[in-house]
Amino acid sequence: MKPLVVLTHALPAEWLTSLAGEARLVSGPADASGLAPALEPYLGEAEGLLSMLTIPVRSELLARMPRLRVVSNMAAGVDNVDVAECTRRGIPVGNTPDVLTDATADLTLALLLAAARNLPQAMADARAGHWKTWLPAGWLGVDLQDAVLGILGMGRIGRAVAARARGFGLRIIFYDTGVADGRKMPPPDTEAVSFEELLTRSDFLSLHCPLTEKTRGLIDELALRKMKPTAILINMARGPVVVTDALQRALQEGWIAGAALDVTDPEPLPPAHPLYSLPNCIILPHIGSATVGTRRKMAQIACENLLAGLHGKPLPYCVNPQVYST
Ligand code: DGY
Repeated sequence: MKPLVVLTHALPAEWLTSLAGEARLVSGPADASGLAPALEPYLGEAEGLLSMLTIPVRSELLARMPRLRVVSNMAAGVDNVDVAECTRRGIPVGNTPDVLTDATADLTLALLLAAARNLPQAMADARAGHWKTWLPAGWLGVDLQDAVLGILGMGRIGRAVAARARGFGLRIIFYDTGVADGRKMPPPDTEAVSFEELLTRSDFLSLHCPLTEKTRGLIDELALRKMKPTAILINMARGPVVVTDALQRALQEGWIAGAALDVTDPEPLPPAHPLYSLPNCIILPHIGSATVGTRRKMAQIACENLLAGLHGKPLPYCVNPQVYST
């Protein structure tokens, strides 16, 4: 009998062709915000789990999946997965980096430009009939040429953002612990700075770090108060890297000039949340990797990781390779 695989979310059938004939699949709904109750009866038998970032894969779930041999998370980030617990259980965990780098970096620049030039306000004003004439001092934004872009986290996406930003004439500073301790090389034409300097010198501060115990709440009131009152914060990482209440006050009280968020805490941000009413805050529903080609490639890699795990082979993209040496 083919192994049973639980997909926490339904995916387009054409993204799953590599699984055909390899496994029996049961899926939750496409818009699952948690594990669908209909999947519960299958947990005990499932040997593979294809999960998304909205599903906590922690000891409570793992304990109910005694036959599980692979977790394949369709995301680069794995903060929803208790990787240490999976390792302890000998379960490899796969993720889908690289293929989403360009799409995520593109959207970072889109947010940066939208915030720098007040696009949401300008669009809303045009639509509302406030565009009466060409205004010499209306809808003014800020120039990018020679402005300072600070990047927190110089991994694949941070580097792709830096490459794009250079084309706009931005000067790039960054903080990354891996570069600071010599494990990673700095990209060309960038300046490594301390976290303190990153906050105080950035005209745009763009977040691209993973969510870990060290980065959770890193952009708090203290950090926001150190930023320039003209600065714009862009969060493409994970919502909890920023303390939402502190950000709200920062935007309301002018500690910083604006924010552009692809991720929020909580996520989704409820429609009544005060951040939506602030004209200096752009909010997107976590769409950094949301292009047809990128999501298809992410699904393809998630399937490759899944199949490798089911066949007892090393996952092409494994975040806990130590499972193979224990
Ligand atoms: C990820 O992959 O971690 C993104 O947040 C979603 O594509």
